[in-house]
Amino acid sequence: MYPLLENSPYPPAAGVYIHIPFCVHKCNYCDFYSITKLDKIPHFIQTLLQEIELFAKNKDYRKIEADSIFIGGGTPSLLEPQYIELILKSLNTIFDFSVDTEFTIEANPGATENKYLSEYKQLGINRLSFGVQSFNDDELKFLERIHTAKEAQNTIETAINQGFDNISLDLIFGLPNQTMEKWANTLQTALSYNLQHYSIYNLIYEEGTRLTKDLNSSKINALPEDMEEEIYNYTVQEMQNKNYKQYEISNYNKENYFSRHNIKYWTHQEYYGFGPSSHSFDGKKRYWNFSNLNKYSENIYKNQLPIEDIDELDNDKIIRETIMLGLRFGGVPILPLKDIYQVDLLDLISNNENLFKRHLEPNINKLIISPSSKFIANEIVINLIKYIELKIIK
Ligand SMILES: C[S@@+](CC[C@H](N)C(=O)[O-])C[C@H]1O[C@@H](n2cnc3c(N)ncnc32)[C@H](O)[C@@H]1O
Ligand code: SF4
Repeated sequence: MYPLLENSPYPPAAGVYIHIPFCVHKCNYCDFYSITKLDKIPHFIQTLLQEIELFAKNKDYRKIEADSIFIGGGTPSLLEPQYIELILKSLNTIFDFSVDTEFTIEANPGATENKYLSEYKQLGINRLSFGVQSFNDDELKFLERIHTAKEAQNTIETAINQGFDNISLDLIFGLPNQTMEKWANTLQTALSYNLQHYSIYNLIYEEGTRLTKDLNSSKINALPEDMEEEIYNYTVQEMQNKNYKQYEISNYNKENYFSRHNIKYWTHQEYYGFGPSSHSFDGKKRYWNFSNLNKYSENIYKNQLPIEDIDELDNDKIIRETIMLGLRFGGVPILPLKDIYQVDLLDLISNNENLFKRHLEPNINKLIISPSSKFIANEIVINLIKYIELKIIK
């Protein structure tokens, strides 16, 4: 039904996302939903278990086949292992997890206890995603991270020594005043661990964050775009030199170590989210929970699912998303878009040489962004969607 399904390297199965909305400190650049009242964690876990139970009551009796669990946040590594065990037990009543399920937890190196890591492993967690961001102490301070570079390194080394063999690091480039030398230190230190996966993001000034306020009041200056592009090109080249594949604009893997979970989002597979601000897609509609712990909890106490809103996927949305997601991951399948949705991408592009010809190219049966244009992927996607809306979607 969805053309993008063919982009997944795995057979279709659902993913499960659990949002843990707690952090020791709110980083100045981050707009993910989290609060710093850690004493609320035990009560939150009880509410979360209730939400999972409510979901079970509202669905038919069959279990949903799934092959990934992602515990994200916030800072899920704050959770004592006994809580993870309770969550898993509850999920098992709804989902039928495959034997090779990818089970990821996001971990902040400043809030990860060594003894928790080994217990997480015993509980079946087989993938760690560390939010490192930088290996320069001054940059970590600027981002208000709660750990030093050395502490991040110690945590990664502990995880490796404990036998975790599927580890991902999150890094952010494009900080104000960042030099190539500074970024090279971060990237090369990250690569020295020869890990399975890296997510490398360009800093985004998200609305409402303290960092964006500082930018708007000229307290700080954004890094010039040509410098960001230089850093991006260096990164792509270095990753290639070390045999990592850039399988998505911001994600690099070794061999077959994809983020199986993220691939659900990019290929129109089902995913079910629990916890405040989590999103779900049941194959037909998307819906999302309140991004507020009180509102979320109040609904659950009234035996109502804490859903803030629902968005049905109609054909126009499917076309838009197929292009947007396909250009980021795996390519836009040309034939299904033409046959099922009457959108002839090749025809559209050849009729607008200036705007797209330099940036887009057919690759077998897919339309992809030319490697030299990936840095401006967002711009290309926005322009292509606008163009298609004008021509096709009214
Ligand atoms: C939801 S956060 C959770 C990670 C974990 N809490 C931590 O920070 O250690 C996931 C990742 O998103 C990235 N991220 C968050 N805000 C960002 C921003 N404004 N610009 C770029 N990347 C961002 C960071 O790399 C972060 O590690
Ligand atoms: S980046 Fe991670 S640790 Fe920092 S506020 Fe966001 S979720 Fe919390």
